[in-house]
Parts: sequence; C-alpha cells; structure tokens
Amino acid sequence: MTPADGHVPVLLNEVLDALDPSPGQTVLDCTAGLGGHAREMARRIGPSGTLVLMDLDPSNLARAEANVRVGGEPPRIVALHAPFSAAPRLLAERGIVADCLLADLGWSSNQIADSARGFSFQRTGPLDMRLDPSAPVTAAELVATLPERELAQVIRDYGEEPAAGRIARAIVRARAAGPIATTEQLARVIHAVLPRRHGPGGGIDPATRTFQALRIAVNDELGHLDALLAAVRRAAASAADTWLRAATADRHGARVAIIAFHSLEDRPVKRAFAALVADALATSRTRGAVQASEAEVQSNPRARSARLRAIEFSRSER
Ligand SMILES: C[S@@+](CC[C@H](N)C(=O)[O-])C[C@H]1O[C@@H](n2cnc3c(N)ncnc32)[C@H](O)[C@@H]1O
Repeated sequence: MTPADGHVPVLLNEVLDALDPSPGQTVLDCTAGLGGHAREMARRIGPSGTLVLMDLDPSNLARAEANVRVGGEPPRIVALHAPFSAAPRLLAERGIVADCLLADLGWSSNQIADSARGFSFQRTGPLDMRLDPSAPVTAAELVATLPERELAQVIRDYGEEPAAGRIARAIVRARAAGPIATTEQLARVIHAVLPRRHGPGGGIDPATRTFQALRIAVNDELGHLDALLAAVRRAAASAADTWLRAATADRHGARVAIIAFHSLEDRPVKRAFAALVADALATSRTRGAVQASEAEVQSNPRARSARLRAIEFSRSER
C-alpha cells in the first residue's frame, strides 16, 4: 500500500515479521522518518499499546506522528526530538519498557529531495546536511575549517573514497580562494579531481562518496549507532537496564531490528548482534541480512542497498 505522501517504508513486511508487535505492546521507532513503519506497527499494537517516536529532524517527527494518527484508534504516542543514542535515558526517565525497537538508518527521501537541506549534489543548495537543523555544525563549516589531514580522513573513513587525499587537497586549495558554500561548488571541486563518466557503465557520480562522508560526519551517524548498539548490549546483559524488555518465563524478550544502507553501518550491527548471540544473550530473528525482493527494488530503488538484521533478547539469569 502506498501512503498519501508517496513515502514507501523499506522491508516493511520483513520488519513486522522480525519484530512481531502485538496488541498492548510498546514499540520504539528510533528513526520515525515519515512514519511508514510506525503506522503499521501502531496498527498492530492498537490503542492499548505505546508507540515511542524518535527523530533528529523535528519536521519528520511531526509528520510521522500525524501519519500514525490517521485512521483508526492510535496507540499512546510519545514523540521525542532526540538522537536515538539518547533512547535508554529518555525511556528510563519516563518508565517506558520497549518490546520492539526499530532503527531504519540514514535519511528519508523527502530530506534528500529538499535542496535547502543540502544533502544532494544533484540539487543546488546550501552545503548544510544537518538532519537536525538546530545542530551546531553544517557541512560548509566542516569543509571550511577541518585541516587537510582530517578532511582526508573523514572522506576516506566515512566515504571509503580512494582519492580522499587528492579531494581534501583540492578542497583546501579551493577554499583559500573563497568559501565553498553550496552543494554545486563542492561537487565542482570534486569533479575537477574525479571527472564524471557519462553514459552506461559510467558508474556512480564520483561526488557520491564525499557527500556521504560529510553527511555521516556532520550528523555523527556512526557515533550514534555505536552508542545504540552498546546500550542494547547492556540492556541484554543487565537487569539494571530496563528500557528494553527482559525475557521471562511467560514473556518474550525485546526484539531489536536495524536496517543499514551501507557497509559502514551494517558491519557494526552484524558484529554486535553476532556477539549477543554468541554470548547467549539473544537469538537471531533473521538469517544473515534480509534483503529486499526484486519486486520491492523495482518499485523502490533505495531498497536495493537495505540490509535488515534482527535479534530477540534471550531469557538469562541476569
Ligand atoms: C530512513 S528514514 C526512516 C524512515 C521511516 N522508517 C519511515 O518508514 O518513514 C531515517 C530517519 O532517521 C532520522 N535519523 C537519522 N539518524 C538519526 C539518529 N541518530 N537519531 C534519531 N533519528 C535519526 C532521519 O532524520 C530520518 O528521518
């Protein structure tokens, strides 16, 4: 089903299978986005359930909440404008214990499509890239202030860009002549180092990796993910951490599902979940990484790179 705003959540049925939200349960959607997954999970938990919505982007958070409230009787909704790394504290403060956690990482289509947000080199706009518009540092500021070595490291580590050193040097040279304030200006600097190849077989635009790297750095995306994974581990291992449901004789433990879109995100998720399973703190709810069907990729090309992994907390003597 395609919702009114055209946004299609990726791997929706697979997420519902992995998390299995049921009436009266509490669901934490760490990345509410436009509420695509949240709406379906809200239907499953019904009016006696609780849905916690989190997003760094306050306008997405508001849209998610509105989308969830359309039709039917919504669950209790708690909307939190915060990074998901703050979930353990924010839930504990409110006495909320989640049965299901979903993190659908990265950005939503409307954020990329909005040229004023500066995420895409295909649209001219200010070089911003903040998911949270109130965050202190924009991509333009990083590009203007980072020393060449650090710039190269960001582009290499977060963009996996082999030409990181040459791109950083070109940026430093260009910024000496005047500020790099727009997506178009930065793309031009990158294209001078790595020219675009047109036509079939041309591959991805050479600016893609540098733009990805800056977006990850501006939003500390891997830092928040690492913090979330560490908090999930603590909750699986310790009775003192109550924000995720512990398994008991008559109750399932929390289910945690994460959708990653590139290897820098998927690798830590894979490792963290494998360690929980190896330590008997959780069982796997997916066989390896679940990928979108050809039919889904046809209708939603972004689904091609999605990798879903999920676990369920095991009963333990914790
Ligand atoms: C892929 S979209 C989620 C789409 C959503 N599942 C849906 O069906 O509409 C990712 C969302 O996560 C948000 N986001 C990214 N990193 C975040 C973080 N560390 N904490 C909270 N929200 C984050 C983005 O602002 C964006 O709205």
